[in-house]
Amino acid sequence: MTDTAELSLAGKNSEYPVLSGTVGPDVVDIRKLYGATGAFTYDPGFTSTASCRSALTYIDGDEGVLLHRGYPIGELAEQSSFMEVAYLLLNGELPSADELGKFETTITRHTMLHEQLATFYRGFRRDAHPMAVMCGVVGALSAFYHDSTDIHDPQQRMIASHRLIAKMPTIAAMAYKYSVGQPFLYPDNSLSYTGNFLRMTFGVPAEQYEVHPAVEKAMDRIFILHADHEQNASTSTVRLAGSSGANPFACIAAGIACLWGPAHGGANEAALNMLHEIGTPDRIPEFIARAKDKNDPFRLMGFGHRVYKNYDPRATVMQKTVREVFDALKVSDPVFETALRLEEIALNDSYFVEKKLFPNVDFYSGVILSAIGFPTSMFTALFALARTVGWVAQWNEMITDPDQKIGRPRQLYTGPTQRSYVPMSKR
Ligand code: SDX
Repeated sequence: MTDTAELSLAGKNSEYPVLSGTVGPDVVDIRKLYGATGAFTYDPGFTSTASCRSALTYIDGDEGVLLHRGYPIGELAEQSSFMEVAYLLLNGELPSADELGKFETTITRHTMLHEQLATFYRGFRRDAHPMAVMCGVVGALSAFYHDSTDIHDPQQRMIASHRLIAKMPTIAAMAYKYSVGQPFLYPDNSLSYTGNFLRMTFGVPAEQYEVHPAVEKAMDRIFILHADHEQNASTSTVRLAGSSGANPFACIAAGIACLWGPAHGGANEAALNMLHEIGTPDRIPEFIARAKDKNDPFRLMGFGHRVYKNYDPRATVMQKTVREVFDALKVSDPVFETALRLEEIALNDSYFVEKKLFPNVDFYSGVILSAIGFPTSMFTALFALARTVGWVAQWNEMITDPDQKIGRPRQLYTGPTQRSYVPMSKR
């Protein structure tokens, strides 16, 4: 027996089925609401709206739970690898050793870019933001692979998915190399996915590059933490673009564009810039006051979340990883102390407690990435590199969803009612 939800509107009653998932909130299926009532629902920002069914990622924001295909992010971060999490998100189950080996080989064999793509970089100013470069180059990929754009052919969808996952590290590393005026390095198939990325980013043709194991492990874990996150803004962008049947590479470019915003993936860059602006802990109260001031647009970057009303479980792992990287590299950074102090002060301030504003994935990531050697401008590009796995998995799930149709929201119209054109002579 399916539960139903009743709606009484303009003296008319209508009923809608209530659907239950395996876990999490039920949904009211309102697909027939407009036909039954002539009214739309109104939910700017989709704060109470489920846009799709999905089996990929589950978040319990009140409990601070994040599961990928049922596996807790903390266990995956500690025991898995980014390639294994990519396989899990794409295929639904953890791979056998043989399945993982085959998957890694497939991805490795697609890490090279078409040689023509390197010329796209030359069109950018050297000081172009890496996210601008990523948008442009990933969008350009849609002009190169005409053998994998029939999105209704599972084989073509999978080859496009593998190409995207495989080429993002190469594209991101080339964006960094271009910005510092160093030559591009080709992928090295003898290295791991993450080791290959580190070498393409920090290696130079003039000498052998040794991947630091602790850095490789930390980077791989950071990729895992960023892999997927339910129907966030950039994933919803990829799904909406894909719902029209658009080229998969163009859909991922749309996701990159959305992720760039400081309210979303751009927050990791903004958070480290904020911590540097704060400088020393004695200036924290000034910034806390600004964050609470309704007349000041300033927000604590790396704090708050649409879904998490508890500590973001990814931030917990990220903070632990800061200490591991600092120990491994024998470095320290006073900005980490400032971040820890800021968190402590904010989490004891009634404004943040009442609004349930906790550190999110972006609060500590910049401290680690900076210690590894990335410039702040590369932080969101790294987020895009990792989130491509989630975007691609969500895109595949959307295309194979029998409920799926082109996304086309409606509106509450507040403009003028119909009126006649006024000739210039009469204005
Ligand atoms: C990511 O969706 C995802 O899953 C995203 C992500 C992923 O993995 O894909 O997790 C990645 O984007 C993490 C979030 C990164 N963004 C930031 O760190 C930027 C700072 N955070 C805020 O801009 C904000 O918290 C959002 C955008 C993250 C969430 O905003 P919401 O859900 O729309 O909440 P809101 O803006 O309505 O805020 C609720 C209240 C408001 O006050 P009131 O109007 O109720 O008085 O909390 C306040 C806000 O002013 N508030 C903050 C704040 N965040 C919210 N006040 C100060 N500092 C902040 N950071």
